[in-house]
Amino acid sequence: MTRQAWLNGVFIAADEARISPFDRGFLFADGVYEVTAVYGGQLIDLERHLDRLERSLRELKFGTMPDRKELEEVHRKLVEQNGIEEGYIYLQVTRGAYAGRDFVAPDKPRLTTFLFGEKRALIDTPAARNGSKIVALPDIRWARRDIKSVGLLAQALAKTEAKARGADDAWLVAPDGHVTEGASSNAWIVTKDGQIITRAISNMILAGVTRHALFDSLGQRGVKIIERSFTLEEAKEAAEAFTTAATGLVTPVVSIDGVALSDGKPGPVTRRVQKLYYTAIGADVAKAAPWLGG
Ligand SMILES: Cc1ncc(COP(=O)(O)O)c(C=O)c1O
Repeated sequence: MTRQAWLNGVFIAADEARISPFDRGFLFADGVYEVTAVYGGQLIDLERHLDRLERSLRELKFGTMPDRKELEEVHRKLVEQNGIEEGYIYLQVTRGAYAGRDFVAPDKPRLTTFLFGEKRALIDTPAARNGSKIVALPDIRWARRDIKSVGLLAQALAKTEAKARGADDAWLVAPDGHVTEGASSNAWIVTKDGQIITRAISNMILAGVTRHALFDSLGQRGVKIIERSFTLEEAKEAAEAFTTAATGLVTPVVSIDGVALSDGKPGPVTRRVQKLYYTAIGADVAKAAPWLGG
């Protein structure tokens, strides 16, 4: 089946969607995006993703917002048209295309808005089952990581380097030796005395929607999360580690720079967090993730 997309008000086969090479998204990475998970045919935390989209656009002084009701509707239609039980909807908004290449942004942009849907396993993946091997790399990104910018070159290079080194993913490390986040996820550790730690929200990291959802789920069970930054050394000495993201959900980390955590297997706290999150998004864990042991 051809993937269905939506471009500037029109549903269209994804392969037929066309935008101008003068689009500011192409010329200047002048745009933002969101990725919303779909599980059981339901969009997970769509409202929080749209809140963050609007925040990103406000921070970049777009001045014009896409119509939120329309975006909600398009998300739902694309889930349907693409027959997505498990997967995601991608949304990108740029400041649009103009006659030439001018650094100065227009006052009232004509937005380019593009969405597409894709089927993809979110729960039953090798990384969720067996964990991922991480390499730590310098965080060379710009200073506004709180904005979900389409300027993802540093992340793309980090993931490519991780793969070249035989790892699954990268964690990024600030010049002060503290881990900021994963290349496309938030980073968490569990200390040997069982404390669950993730970095506090600031301009240094993206405020993950999955991160936020875990605060809710764990909070409801009285489990405390400590928000503070941690060094790469502390992460390597941790009992466990994991990442959170809309498409990776909760992914165990089993090694960092070749140093095994939890005997190189996903740890018990991480397993409980996976179970909790899968349940929160409506999964029947015994069926969807039998490797979690019911
Ligand atoms: C740099 C970065 N941090 C964190 C996240 C996790 O955010 P979310 O849970 O909203 O997907 C992402 C997701 O793409 C990301 O790219």
